[in-house]
Amino acid sequence: MKNDRSLARKRHSRRQGKATTNSLRGKTAIVTGASRGIGLAIATVLAREGVKLALISRTPPPPGLDEAFLECDLADPARIPDAVARALGQLGGLDFLVNNAGIFLEKSVPKISLADWEKTLRVNLTAPFLICRQTLPHLAARKGRIVNIVSSSAMQGYLHQSAYVASKHGLLGFARALALEARPRGVHVYNLCPGGVDTGLLQGTELGARLKGQPMIRPADLAEMVAFLLRQPANVDLPEIAIRRFV
Ligand SMILES: NC(=O)c1ccc[n+]([C@@H]2O[C@H](COP(=O)([O-])OP(=O)(O)OC[C@H]3O[C@@H](n4cnc5c(N)ncnc54)[C@H](OP(=O)(O)O)[C@@H]3O)[C@@H](O)[C@H]2O)c1
Repeated sequence: MKNDRSLARKRHSRRQGKATTNSLRGKTAIVTGASRGIGLAIATVLAREGVKLALISRTPPPPGLDEAFLECDLADPARIPDAVARALGQLGGLDFLVNNAGIFLEKSVPKISLADWEKTLRVNLTAPFLICRQTLPHLAARKGRIVNIVSSSAMQGYLHQSAYVASKHGLLGFARALALEARPRGVHVYNLCPGGVDTGLLQGTELGARLKGQPMIRPADLAEMVAFLLRQPANVDLPEIAIRRFV
């Protein structure tokens, strides 16, 4: 009887107990596209949290983060395996992968050249596939996590953005299927789908002009969301998050 009561008390305190969140200190992460914009904000927050970083892009991030820089043009699939291998060597094990690098294309369908189409898909979809394929065993070894910076363009069509929209629908579809393979290996896959974020991505575009002066999502706010996701306990999943501008 006494034992029953103490077991019930333990169960109750477990249920009512404080939320468990993981510290990020000492963890390792690859972040793509951290030279500016959202990726730079994510790298800045992860560095603040004590995460050891490898940052893959064509140009380096600003001083303070540049030591973690690994140069690679993600539009060239042949160059990716070496860059990822260098990142893994530098980090000595992988807890987190943030697929963030991306390019925007705003052209009506008749004006999209095959080269435009293929480049958009190579950077936004093929590169995350190749990086996930190479890093999954390393992430599985540490029950790690993948964060994809997708887009609201993965959930609806937008005028004159068919290549970009296709690449982001493709990325979300790939990530949904990947999650089924990753789950039994203890690896979480999170997909963030933001609307307009205040970066240079849309500069000089019709969409950028339409959004001018309107409230935008701040890169730092997205970066804090990434840190929040990475801190979540393993028994909780937040697979897809739509983040809209509140106007
Ligand atoms: N801004 C938005 O409104 C918005 C909304 C939804 C989703 N997103 C997504 O968020 C991600 C980041 O976008 P952002 O707004 O931060 O754009 P951004 O400011 O233009 O930054 C893009 C980043 O991707 C890297 N990148 C681009 N092409 C690359 C290539 N060929 N090889 C390697 N790295 C490359 C760039 O680095 P280098 O130029 O140095 O290579 C840069 O660090 C993208 O996937 C984008 O689709 C953005």
